[in-house]
Amino acid sequence: AKIYIPRDAAALALGAEKVATAMAEGLAARGLDATIVRNGSRGLHWLEPLVEVETPEGRIAYGPVKAGDVASLLDAGLVTGGSHPLCRGKTEEIPFLKRQVRLTFARCGVTDPLSLDDYRAHGGLNGLEKAVAMEPAAIVAEVTESGLRGRGGAGFPTGIKWKTVLEAPGPQKYIVCNADEGDSGTFADRMIMEGDPFVLIEGMAVAGIATGATKGYIYTRSEYPHAIAAMTEAIEVARAAGVLGRAVLGSAHAFDMEVRTGAGAYVCGEETSLLNSLEGKRGLVRAKPPLPAHRGLFDRPTVINNVISLASVPVILDKGAAYYRDFGMGRSRGTIPIQIAGNVKHGGLFEIGFGLTLGEIVDDIAGGTASGRPVKAVQVGGPLGAYFPRALFDTPFDYEAFAAKDGLIGHAGIVVFDDTADMLKQARFAMEFCAVESCGKCTPCRLGSTRGVEVADKIRDGVEPEKNRELLADLCNTMKFGSLCALGGFTPYPVVSAMTHFPEDFQPAPVREAAE
Ligand code: NAI
Repeated sequence: AKIYIPRDAAALALGAEKVATAMAEGLAARGLDATIVRNGSRGLHWLEPLVEVETPEGRIAYGPVKAGDVASLLDAGLVTGGSHPLCRGKTEEIPFLKRQVRLTFARCGVTDPLSLDDYRAHGGLNGLEKAVAMEPAAIVAEVTESGLRGRGGAGFPTGIKWKTVLEAPGPQKYIVCNADEGDSGTFADRMIMEGDPFVLIEGMAVAGIATGATKGYIYTRSEYPHAIAAMTEAIEVARAAGVLGRAVLGSAHAFDMEVRTGAGAYVCGEETSLLNSLEGKRGLVRAKPPLPAHRGLFDRPTVINNVISLASVPVILDKGAAYYRDFGMGRSRGTIPIQIAGNVKHGGLFEIGFGLTLGEIVDDIAGGTASGRPVKAVQVGGPLGAYFPRALFDTPFDYEAFAAKDGLIGHAGIVVFDDTADMLKQARFAMEFCAVESCGKCTPCRLGSTRGVEVADKIRDGVEPEKNRELLADLCNTMKFGSLCALGGFTPYPVVSAMTHFPEDFQPAPVREAAE
C-alpha cells in the first residue's frame, strides 16, 4: 500500500514531518508493508496534515493527523483504509474537493511531486509533446483562443503577451516566471511549485517554444525554501530526462531554466522591479514603456507570467483551447484557483470556473467564519485589494464584475474578517504597508503612503475628522493616478473601499465608543 503524507509547507507547519517519522517507525515496528509517499497538498487546510491511503476503492483520507494519532491509526487498520474517528472517507468525495474543477491543480496532492513517471502517468508532458510538433504562431493562437488571462492579478491576455514577444526581434529572448507570491492570503503559486513542479516546467518550456525564448528563470522569494528545493530538484530531473536542454523531448527546440531567489521585498513581485532584481540590481520600478515584452530582462524581449498562468498552459495544449474556454463566464475564461484564508472555517485552495459569487465562496464553501461571528468584510485580491461588505456578496468572481464594483480579483486570494475588524485600522495598515514596501522611486507612493498613515491617525484622534476624511480621499486619488506601479496605484483600493462601505468606522474614537 502507499501512504501519502504531504511535504507542502502548510502541512509541514502543522506537523507533517513528525507524522511521517512516526508513520515510518510505526510501520516498521508492526512489520507492515507500506510505502510512504511525500506528496503536495490537496489544499484542504483545516484537515492538514491530511494522510491518504491507497486502496482498491480509491484513496481514503484521514485528517488532521498528529504524530500522536499514528499508533491508533495503524491499530485501526490504516494500511487497508480502516475506520477511525479521523477518517474522512474517500478523498475525492470530500465536498470541498468534489465541487472543484481541477485543471491547473489536477495533480497537486495526487502525485509524487518529484517523480517524472508519476507526472507522465497523470497526463503530464502531453501538452509539451504537442507543442514541439507545432509552429510557434499556432501555439500562441491556441493560448489566445483559450481565453487565458494573466493570473498574477492584472488579467492581461496571455496569448497577446506571447505574440508580442514572438514578433519582437532579438537574438535572445527570455521566459521569466513571477513566483514572488507576496499577497497576504495567497499560496497558489507555492502549492504548485511544491506539489506539481513539473507542470510549471512544462508550461515554461511551451512558452519558450512559442516565443523563441531558450532560457527561463523562476524568480521566487527566500521565504519559500520548500518551493525552491522542489523546483530546483525537479529542474534537474527534467534536464536529466531530456525535457529541458538542447533538444526538448528530442526536438530541435532548446530550452533550459533555473531558479533565482529574491530577498522578499513585496515590490519585487512587480514585473519591472523583478527584472531589476533578477539582473542583480536594486528592486526599483522601471517606467513603462518599454514593455518587458519588447525590452525586458537584460533589455531583451521577455515574457513575464505568473506561476498559475504558466501552469495552466499544459492543460490548454493537451485538451485544446475550446475545452479550457468552456469554463468560466464573460471574458473570464477557464478556471481560477481561489485561495480562501483569514477568519474562515474551511480555508484552502478551491479551483473552479469563474462565476461563483463572493457570497457562495465565503458562506457556502468556506463555511463562514471560524469565530462563528458574522462576516463583516472580505478583502479580495491581496493587501491592495478592496474590502467588500456583505452587500456586495452577489458579485460573481470575474475580472470585469469586480472592477465594476471598484474591486479586483487580483491573484484570487480572499481574506475574511468578522465583525470585530476595525476598518479604519485596516485602511491605516494599507498605507503603512505601502510606506514600508515602497521602492521610493515615485513621489505619490513614497510620500503619499506616509502622509496617509498620518491622516488616518488624525481621523482616529478626532482632529478635524471631516477635513481629514476628504484629505484621505484626495490623497488616494493622487496615489491611484500618479504612482508609477500598482503598489502605490492600488493601495487606495483597500482605503477607499473601507471608507465607502464602512463609514461608521471612520468616526473619531470617542464618537464610535459612544455609538457602541
Ligand atoms: P498591467 O496592467 O500594467 O500589466 C499587465 C501585464 O501585461 C504586464 O505584464 C504588462 O507588461 C503586460 N502588457 C500590457 N500591455 C501589453 C502589450 N500591449 N503587449 C504585451 N504585454 C503587455 O499590470 P501590472 O502593473 O503588471 O499588475 C497589476 C496587478 O498586479 C494588479 O491588478 C494586482 O492585482 C496585481 N498584484 C499581484 C500581486 C501578487 O502577489 N500576485 C501583488 C500585487 C499586485
